[in-house]
Amino acid sequence: MTDSRDETLKQLMEDFHASIDVDRRLFRVDIRGSIAYARGLVRIGVLTSEEGRTIEEALGEIEGEIESGSYALTRDLEDIHMAVEKRLIEKTGPVGGKLHTGRSRNDQIATDERLYLREVVDDITDRIRGCQEALLGLAERTVDVIFPGYTHLQQAQPIRFAHYALSLFFGLQRDRDRLVDCRKRINILPLGSAAMAGSAFPIDRAFLAEELGFDGLSPNSIDAVSDRDFIAEFLAACTIMMIRVSRASEDLVIWSSTEFGYVTQHPRLATGSSIMPQKKNPDAAELLRGKAGRVLGDLVSLVTMLKGLPHAYDTDMQEDKVQLFDAIDTVTIALTVFTAIWETLEVREARVNRSMDDAMLSTDLADYLTRCGVPFREGHGIVAALVDEAINRGCSLRDLPLELYQRFSEHFDEATIRQLRFDDSADKRALPGGTGKESVERQLEQAREILVRK
Ligand code: ARG
Repeated sequence: MTDSRDETLKQLMEDFHASIDVDRRLFRVDIRGSIAYARGLVRIGVLTSEEGRTIEEALGEIEGEIESGSYALTRDLEDIHMAVEKRLIEKTGPVGGKLHTGRSRNDQIATDERLYLREVVDDITDRIRGCQEALLGLAERTVDVIFPGYTHLQQAQPIRFAHYALSLFFGLQRDRDRLVDCRKRINILPLGSAAMAGSAFPIDRAFLAEELGFDGLSPNSIDAVSDRDFIAEFLAACTIMMIRVSRASEDLVIWSSTEFGYVTQHPRLATGSSIMPQKKNPDAAELLRGKAGRVLGDLVSLVTMLKGLPHAYDTDMQEDKVQLFDAIDTVTIALTVFTAIWETLEVREARVNRSMDDAMLSTDLADYLTRCGVPFREGHGIVAALVDEAINRGCSLRDLPLELYQRFSEHFDEATIRQLRFDDSADKRALPGGTGKESVERQLEQAREILVRK
């Protein structure tokens, strides 16, 4: 009876405790870390050079075995560290059992995660860059496309479409900078911290850092095994980026709707409905919006998991990889899709032109009065009244009779009113950061410089 209970619990716990289904993707970095560690043990005489070589060779083979699937990573192995060590001992006998001297899975997992994540960060920053290239290309093609700029989802002021594309470009640059910055704190070596108090063997940590390409050593062993800030930071950086991706996706969803029709997305990115033949749903953009919530969820799960943990390592922490890997996979494909959207986006200029409301030129009219010496607040009131009048008459601002304009202000004349143009309005905003052609050209130049730099 007792035996069967014991067996049941063993099985139950094996299923519940095992993280190998998730952390198997760390096998390369785990082996890399172990090879460096074996060399470190040789340096301090815990392993002979001969033993060190045997272990290194076997670890190399194990990597091949895991890769090819000839060594199956089954749940009873618990986690990737145990799996590698077990196989090492199978292959080398008692020598393999020496590798874990002065090391704990607590400093081992922290090391693995950092090795893994720094490569991921490099890949993701490259992908952001690729997306920036697509946006720059789009901006270069649309400098002369005048488009309605919105606030409160109401037509506000005319802009150049390139100005919009560049707004995303510069936002993505901050996302990239955040990840590059976070990488500095990822690339610190925890190994040597052992379980939490530091290894009792005089491991040369500087040597390990050098071997593994870390920029520095964690200064405190308790901090080193407790710390998952680097994951939280990474997830926060990904979340902020995905919020941007989501908001831009929402722009696309709106602009590609039946009512707006400003843009067309590649048919492969906007698929049909299974029932309504006319539909072209902006699936890619909608999914990106949805995935942003998912990445935010990963961040929230991680920090919630950490919130009440006593120092130093606690088993809760093994859950961190679920969120980390989910976010990595989500962000990786999301960036590729996001890039493809901009690469293939078409702006339907004729349709956009028809939709531009010339009330967007109101600010320019008020500015005109200001230049004639009318205080801006007064000019604002005058133009607001004119806009109301146009709405009442169901005509456009430009079509109101001159007499009416002049009833409001003596400064209005025929030429001023007839010359109200969207592109002129945009070009008045020529200061740095504005939507005027000169300014947009300057932004394009800045964007190109950024891409050359890194
Ligand atoms: N599988 C564990 C993790 O992913 C490794 C560290 C386990 N340490 C321990 N003391 N149980 O976090």
